[in-house]
Amino acid sequence: MCGIIGYTGMEDSVPYLLGGLRALEYRGYDSAGIAACGKDGITTVKTRGRIDALEEKINSSSCKIEGHCGIGHTRWATHGAPSDVNSHPHRAENLALVHNGIIENYHEIEETLRAEGYDFVSDTDTERAAKLIDHCFKKLGDPIKAIFEATEIIRGSYALGVIFDAHPGKIFAIRKDSPLIVAKGKDGCFIASDIPAILAHTKDYYQLSEGVVALIESDKVSFFDKNINPTEQKLLHVDFDVEKAQKGGFPHFMIKEINEEPEAIRKTVSSRISERSLPFFGVDMLDGEGISKFKNIHIVACGTAMHAGLIGKNIIERLARVPVNVDIASEFRYRDPILGKDDLVILLSQSGETADTLAALRHAKSKGVYTLSIVNVIGSSVARESDSVLYTLAGPEISVASTKAYSVQCALLYLFAIRLAYSLGKISEDEAKALCNSLLHDVPVYIEDTLKLSDEIKSAASEYLDFEHLFFIGRGIDSALCTEASLKLKEISYIHSEAYAAGELKHGTISLISEGTPVIAIMTSSSLAEKMISGIREVKSRGAKVLAITTKEIAENYTIPSEEIITVGCTDELFAPFAVTTCFQMFAYFVSALRGNDVDKPRNLAKSVTVE
Ligand code: F6R
Repeated sequence: MCGIIGYTGMEDSVPYLLGGLRALEYRGYDSAGIAACGKDGITTVKTRGRIDALEEKINSSSCKIEGHCGIGHTRWATHGAPSDVNSHPHRAENLALVHNGIIENYHEIEETLRAEGYDFVSDTDTERAAKLIDHCFKKLGDPIKAIFEATEIIRGSYALGVIFDAHPGKIFAIRKDSPLIVAKGKDGCFIASDIPAILAHTKDYYQLSEGVVALIESDKVSFFDKNINPTEQKLLHVDFDVEKAQKGGFPHFMIKEINEEPEAIRKTVSSRISERSLPFFGVDMLDGEGISKFKNIHIVACGTAMHAGLIGKNIIERLARVPVNVDIASEFRYRDPILGKDDLVILLSQSGETADTLAALRHAKSKGVYTLSIVNVIGSSVARESDSVLYTLAGPEISVASTKAYSVQCALLYLFAIRLAYSLGKISEDEAKALCNSLLHDVPVYIEDTLKLSDEIKSAASEYLDFEHLFFIGRGIDSALCTEASLKLKEISYIHSEAYAAGELKHGTISLISEGTPVIAIMTSSSLAEKMISGIREVKSRGAKVLAITTKEIAENYTIPSEEIITVGCTDELFAPFAVTTCFQMFAYFVSALRGNDVDKPRNLAKSVTVE
């Protein structure tokens, strides 16, 4: 997630900007930059890479940047690869601008501005926004009016910080669906995308309301509504220390990232739905007739990403009736998979740098098969080398255990399944639109409802702290969910667990069930509810202690013979996996946290596995 800082005051802005950016480093970034307004107008320094590289560049003899007013940015790429030119701040004739968010209609904005004689140097949506505000400024001559007029045109999410050559000492800011705070410190005033960036200077801040422009000057901050009338904002106070603030007030990144799932899904799905409310990938092979030519699909990934592939298999086969294999990437090339010219290989990877996934991609390409990657890190190796890429917009995932990245991978696979089913005539246009609508609007609400069960899930988790072994059972798509539920618990709690298709237990493994063995039964499919209930009876009659995770509908219509039930709020069974996912992720989180483990950095694990 991008980080924004702005400072205007009595001091040189550069150390303040660098300090603010360092405090935002936890958000993850791939490039950084600052712009300062000095005697000779605005100067910008930016670079791909770390803040140390930016500082080195600033200190080099070729570069001179100074001024009492400036803005800075750490970029997490969403449009265009990480590079110097794509880094922020972006410059237009009269201004420099930093942006956090996604501008959906940047293509349209570019076309309009090209007709007015504007040129573009970067691939970013942000440069289009900078030049749009510049265009409005030339017409209206007033920064606040220009910002309001431009944001009437912009669709999407944004937190913007803007400085104008003609208005030295002033920063202008506005936001929609992306965070931005404003603060007054001892030595000057600030804007920032998050509290840690200002904590060294003040603990008081304003959370900027949407539809309000903030004007930040060296000794005061003021706010204006759309009619350019002054308006008030509420002053807030924070008691956090820097570490807690970086985690958004949550004790660990993992639980913070689970809480970010609704937003991650809204962003990812909305970026891939057209104005006709149908999936739109911006890739010829997927949007047109091309997608219906694929006869077999292979999903290849590792760990959690591979488990998302299992969910994708279920949904693609169910909606589109196209066969899907799911392969563990480290096995794929060694089993010499049968790949035909009408096959599609989908690579899933949060980091885009997993060595086994990259090797599987290269293997598929060497066989002449079309490759599509679903990746979270823009410009990563898997993204660059695949024939086409769909980015998940989860923002950086800092906790080693993957949570929100899994949920958005599943969301994109649902969208892919809807597109494929629609192109193959397996579902009507109206059905496709309704499914897209549910994915975009209902799924985030199901997840939000599950997040509200936090206390209940924590209390259930507290009963599992002393076990050494545990089973997850489910059928159909629920057995795919069990694989991820089990991995999540294992990797952070260090409790051994196994995921089993409920019907398979009796073929051997049931001999491990004895008095008190914990079993968690995941039940989202009503058509399989009775079969699952039989499975629960089988383990209970051998003494198992059963916790069921299910939907309201199943809980109301069936008597589940478990000791305990957690019921997730979800009215549409097809999308219940999202609500259940959040539930088992929180369960694993609480077991780990209550056992006193280092939740975000489990032993022996690395976030990105770049060795075979
Ligand atoms: C587990 C986890 C791993 C990753 C796997 C693949 O929580 O995060 O299992 O899913 O190492 O990583 P990516 O998705 O980066 O390819």
